[in-house]
Amino acid sequence: MRVLVTGGAGYIGSVVVEELLAQGHISVVFDNLSKGHRESVAPGAEFIQGELLDRQSLETVLVGHKIEAVVHMAADSLVGESFQNPAKYYANNVAAGLSLLEAIRSAHVSRIVFSSTAAVYGEPERQPIQESDPTLPTNPYGETKLALEKALHWYEQAYGLRYVSLRYFNAAGATARCGELHDPETHLIPLLLQVAAGKRPPLEVFGNDYPTRDGTCVRDYIHVNDLADAHVRALQYLETQHLERGRNEKGGDSLAINLGTGRGHSVLEVIRAAEKATGHPVRRKIVPRRPGDPPILVADPAKAQRVLGWTAQRNLGDIVSSAWIWMQKNSKGEQAQLSML
Ligand SMILES: NC(=O)c1ccc[n+]([C@@H]2O[C@H](COP(=O)([O-])OP(=O)(O)OC[C@H]3O[C@@H](n4cnc5c(N)ncnc54)[C@H](O)[C@@H]3O)[C@@H](O)[C@H]2O)c1
Repeated sequence: MRVLVTGGAGYIGSVVVEELLAQGHISVVFDNLSKGHRESVAPGAEFIQGELLDRQSLETVLVGHKIEAVVHMAADSLVGESFQNPAKYYANNVAAGLSLLEAIRSAHVSRIVFSSTAAVYGEPERQPIQESDPTLPTNPYGETKLALEKALHWYEQAYGLRYVSLRYFNAAGATARCGELHDPETHLIPLLLQVAAGKRPPLEVFGNDYPTRDGTCVRDYIHVNDLADAHVRALQYLETQHLERGRNEKGGDSLAINLGTGRGHSVLEVIRAAEKATGHPVRRKIVPRRPGDPPILVADPAKAQRVLGWTAQRNLGDIVSSAWIWMQKNSKGEQAQLSML
C-alpha cells in the first residue's frame, strides 16, 4: 500500500511509519513540524513538510504519490490547553481535518484511519468502556476529535470514504529509535522517568481519594508498538473488506475501535513499575485532584480483537522499560528534556 501519514513526525506517527515500512508498505509523511521532529521520521519514508490547512498542497501530494490510504494522526492533543484555547483545537483538529477530507475526496482516495481518543467518552458510567457506550466529551480536545469522527461517518454515507476511527487509550513506551518527547510533556510515564533520572522535581500525583484500589486514578496504558500494529491491521482491513455497518452497533460511531489492553493501572502502580525498571526511586507528592479527571478509564478491547484480530502484546513492564532505555540512549531527547526543566 502507498500510505500518507499526517503527523508522521510525531510520537505515535513515527512508530506507525516504522511499522508500515517494516511490513513492506510505502509511507509518505506529511507534517508541519509544529510538534514533531524531522529526525524521528524513519529514513525509508519520504518526508514532506506541509500544513493540513493547505488543501491544494495536500491534494498535489495525494495525487503525485498515488496515495491509496491515509493515516490521519496530525492534531493538537493537550487537554488543558484545549480549555484555554479551544479556537486552536477547532482550527487544527476540525477545520484542518476537514481540509484533509476535502483533499482526499478530490484526489479520490477511498480509505482513512483516524487517530481518535478515549477522551470522546468523557466520564463514562461503566468500565471497561465499549465503543457503543455514550460519547460525551468533557473537554474541547475530545469534542474536536468526536467532531471529526462524525464528519467521517457522513463522508462515508455520502461519498463512500471508508474509515476506521481508532480510539487510543494512554499511549506509552518506545521503540529502539522513537520515544515520547512532547513539549510540554504532560504524560505520566515520561514525567516519572525524568523524576527517576533526577531531572525533574517530585512528581505531582493528582488526588489519592478516588474510588479506586489505592485512591489514585486508573488508566489503560498501551505500548506504542502495539498501537502501530493496530494501524497496519486497520489499513489492511479497509483494503480487503467492505465494512459492514451497524451489525452489532448503532449510531455514528459504529466504525470506532478502542485500542487498549483491557487492564488498568493506578498512578501508584505505574510508579512502582518505573521504580522496578529503573532501579531508582520516583519521588512524588500528592496534590489536589484535577477537575475533569475520571477515576478509571479502561478499554474493552474485544472489538479490536474481533474486527482486526488485534490484541496488545506488551504489558506495563515492557512499556516502562522500553521508555527508560530510549530516554537513556537518546541524548538529544535528554537535552530537550533538560531544556524543558
Ligand atoms: N499520545 C497519546 O496518548 C494519545 C492518546 C489518544 C489519541 N492520541 C492522538 O494520536 C495522535 C498522535 O499523538 P502524538 O502523541 O503522537 O502527538 P504528537 O504531537 O507527537 O504528534 C502530532 C504530529 O502532528 C503534527 N501536526 C499537528 N498539526 C498539524 C498540521 N496542522 N499540519 C501538519 N502537521 C501537523 C505535529 O507536528 C506532530 O508531529 C493525535 O491525533 C492525538 O490526538 C494520542
